[in-house]
Amino acid sequence: MPTSTVAVVTGASRGLGEALAEQLLASGASVITLARNQNPRLAEVAAQSGARLQQLGADLSEAASIESAAGLMSAALPTDATHYLLINNAGTVDPVSLAEGLFDAKSIERAFNLNVTAVMVVTAAFLRSAPKAADRRIVNISSGAGRKPTAGWPVYCATKAALDHYTRVLAEENPDLRVASLAPGVIDTAMQVHIRSSDRQQFPDLDRFLQLHEQGQLASPQSVASRILHHVASDRYGHEILDDIRNYDIPS
Ligand SMILES: NC(=O)c1ccc[n+]([C@@H]2O[C@H](COP(=O)([O-])OP(=O)(O)OC[C@H]3O[C@@H](n4cnc5c(N)ncnc54)[C@H](OP(=O)(O)O)[C@@H]3O)[C@@H](O)[C@H]2O)c1
Repeated sequence: MPTSTVAVVTGASRGLGEALAEQLLASGASVITLARNQNPRLAEVAAQSGARLQQLGADLSEAASIESAAGLMSAALPTDATHYLLINNAGTVDPVSLAEGLFDAKSIERAFNLNVTAVMVVTAAFLRSAPKAADRRIVNISSGAGRKPTAGWPVYCATKAALDHYTRVLAEENPDLRVASLAPGVIDTAMQVHIRSSDRQQFPDLDRFLQLHEQGQLASPQSVASRILHHVASDRYGHEILDDIRNYDIPS
C-alpha cells in the first residue's frame, strides 16, 4: 500500500477482517476498524509497525449504532492522505434456516442491517469524508452465495445479492471511484466453524462444508487477505464490479 494510505476495515476483530487490518498496518497504513470487539493483536502490530490504529466499538446490526459508528468513523478519518480504502467486511451467515422457517423478523432485520444497511451508511460517510481528489477505493466483501442459491441460506444469499447490486449502483454513480463486490472463496474462519455446526435439516449442504474442512480445502485468512490487498492495489481493480478473488492468479 502507498505510505499515505488510510484504511477502514469493518469486522476486523477476527477472521478475514483481522488479517486484512493486520497486513494493512504492517504496510504502514493508518487503520480504523469497526466491530463489537477490540482486537489486542492488532494493537500489537500497530505498535510494532508504528502505524496508527483506531478501533471503534460498534454493533453494526442495529440501525442507531450504525449511524453513530459511521459518524465516529468520519470524524476519525484524516483528510490529508493520498489514498483511502474502505473494506466492508463484517458479515453474518445467520439466520440459517429454510425459507419456510423464517418467522423471526428481528433476526432477518439484524442480518440485513449488518450485511447491507451498514455497508450503505458507512460507505456514505466514507464518500462524504474522504477527499474526492484522493485515490478512493472500496471493497465490499461478498460471497458466492449471493450469486448461487444455497438452500438454508435464504437470508445470507439475499443480503449478498443485495450487496452485489448496490455495488453496481455505487459504481454507476461514482465513475472516479474504484469499487467491487468481491467474493473471497471459502476461508478457515469462525464463520466456517459456525457453518459446520448447522442443523442438517435446515442446511442440506452441510456435508459439502464438512468435506471441504476435512480435505483441507479452506484457504487461510492471511493468504486470502494478501491476495485481496494485492488485487485492490492493482490498476485493474474495479474493472469487474461483481468480482471473485479466485479469478486471479495472485500468489499469496
Ligand atoms: N469464511 C468464509 O468462508 C466466507 C466465504 C464467503 C464470504 N465470506 C464473507 O467474508 C466476510 C468475513 O467473514 P469471516 O469468515 O471473517 O467471518 P467471522 O470470522 O465470523 O468474522 C466476522 C466479523 O464481523 C464482525 N461482526 C459480526 N457481527 C457484527 C456486528 N453485529 N457488528 C459489528 N461487527 C460484526 C465480527 O466482529 P465482532 O463479533 O467483534 O462484532 C468479526 O470481526 C463476511 O462478510 C462473510 O460473509 C466469508
